[in-house]
Amino acid sequence: MQKLIFANWKSQKLANQVVPWLEEVGAPPAAVKLVVMPPTSLLSTVAANLPPTISLGAQNVSPYPLGAYTGEVAAAQLADLGVQFCLVGHSERRRYFGETDDQVVAKCQLLSQAAITPVVCIDEPYLESQLTALQAAGSADMILAYEPINAIGTGHNASLEQVAHVAQQVQQFGDFPFIYGGSVSAETVGPYLLQCDGALIGSASLEAASFAHLLAVAAAQEPSFS
Ligand code: PGA
Repeated sequence: MQKLIFANWKSQKLANQVVPWLEEVGAPPAAVKLVVMPPTSLLSTVAANLPPTISLGAQNVSPYPLGAYTGEVAAAQLADLGVQFCLVGHSERRRYFGETDDQVVAKCQLLSQAAITPVVCIDEPYLESQLTALQAAGSADMILAYEPINAIGTGHNASLEQVAHVAQQVQQFGDFPFIYGGSVSAETVGPYLLQCDGALIGSASLEAASFAHLLAVAAAQEPSFS
């Protein structure tokens, strides 16, 4: 199974930085499935320049279908742009934009209807309510991303024991790909990929040369057991 690597640019980069990044990153190693997740403003620019070896992901989606919802981008519109994956329930969205479990469920359902795979972020304080809510959503195709808040953008990545513990809890809930995110870099990605199906990379995905190195390190890991 290929390792899943998601490059979450968050609210960063401008249009003139897209092609240089794609060119410098180049084709990912065959052992890696790379999904680039630009901000919504850059989805169409990335889509227009994306090589077939890289997939397109979004960072957010409306909790409503197409309709009179000013400022929102619906799942069907993301699909229209070629989006195949979408983050849901990221802690930054919960914290700054009040995203709730109910919205996470609605987003998962709409994404599934649009044939987009939800990448649902989970963390301990909400783990139980999130998993219960997700069970209600009944998404068959979903990726679970363990993203401990105190590890995001801090340089303090979660211990391998902590990740293994959550992976075990999540396994009881269903057989979904399980990835880890939080201060992952080329230096730290290796061991996580021995026990997870992939990684969600924020800051370390922004600079193309060091990110290409991260991809090479990821590809060098032994195949996952899942
Ligand atoms: P980080 O972000 O790699 O900068 O910690 C990860 C994420 O929030 O997806």
